[in-house]
Amino acid sequence: MIKADLTGVPETALWTLYHRATEAARPDTVLPDPRAVRLVTELDFPFRERLGAARPWVAQAVALRALAFDQVVRAFLATHPDGTVIALGEGLETQFWRVDNGRARWVTVDLSDPLELRGRVLPHGARQRLVACDVRDSRWTAGVDAARGVLVTAQGLLMYLQPAQVTRLIATCADAFPGGTLAFDSVSRRFATRTRAGAKGPGGHRLPPMPWGMDAHERDRLRGAHPAVGDVVDVPLPAGRGLLGYLAPRLASLPLLRGDRPLVTRLSFRADAAPHRPPRPARRAAPDAPH
Ligand SMILES: C[S@@+](CC[C@H](N)C(=O)[O-])C[C@H]1O[C@@H](n2cnc3c(N)ncnc32)[C@H](O)[C@@H]1O
Repeated sequence: MIKADLTGVPETALWTLYHRATEAARPDTVLPDPRAVRLVTELDFPFRERLGAARPWVAQAVALRALAFDQVVRAFLATHPDGTVIALGEGLETQFWRVDNGRARWVTVDLSDPLELRGRVLPHGARQRLVACDVRDSRWTAGVDAARGVLVTAQGLLMYLQPAQVTRLIATCADAFPGGTLAFDSVSRRFATRTRAGAKGPGGHRLPPMPWGMDAHERDRLRGAHPAVGDVVDVPLPAGRGLLGYLAPRLASLPLLRGDRPLVTRLSFRADAAPHRPPRPARRAAPDAPH
């Protein structure tokens, strides 16, 4: 057993792992992931006491989000089989082992404590690199092999940044990886506001405050982050099991949830964009400045 001693925002990596593994352990799972199932049993961490019970619908929702990212990565690797995937805030995600094509390069970026834990509990091969860096510091872009295409993913990360930091991160990616792609998820403004008021999650544990939220209609404002931002595309959640699984890909057409729902977004960066200009102020580029 390996002790997992994470707190605060890094602890959320254990929350997402716990939920994906709970879903993956079902015989009718939407996300087969034996490595995640095993990893949970190998970690010395009181999952249930610290994070509450993993409710089946939350576990499936977290797994469907992971599956949406898997589909983005698989589509990228289909056109760039030797490309580089950079997983920002990757925590204990086991996505590499779900999607690897045997050729891709994979860079994991996270804060030093979660990264150190990841290095101890998951086996990293020659095509994988671990980079301990705060994503608010653009040094994580150094040394990335971008020659065969780059996909940057940020699953469960950007909501923990300030709006201006989200804008800067998008601009950093656009500058560093012309022709590249960034895929990330976001929570709604209302959800982010609730976390800042101390809301608890469905398992009863307090959610870390989320400074950034974005409603669906605000998505196009992301173009203001950098002139190279081209396509801004909605990535629907895949279909899953039961009512939740039926509704997941249809959330955009449900009147009550159309604007107020979690989003997965894919941004493309043009290779031929105008020379860099500094990002515009956060309020215009990344929605939701906390009041
Ligand atoms: C909710 S977890 C998501 C982990 C993983 N992507 C997943 O979906 O399971 C958030 C992750 O972001 C990392 N993180 C938060 N703020 C960060 C920052 N400023 N720089 C780098 N990583 C950060 C945390 O350490 C944690 O691993």
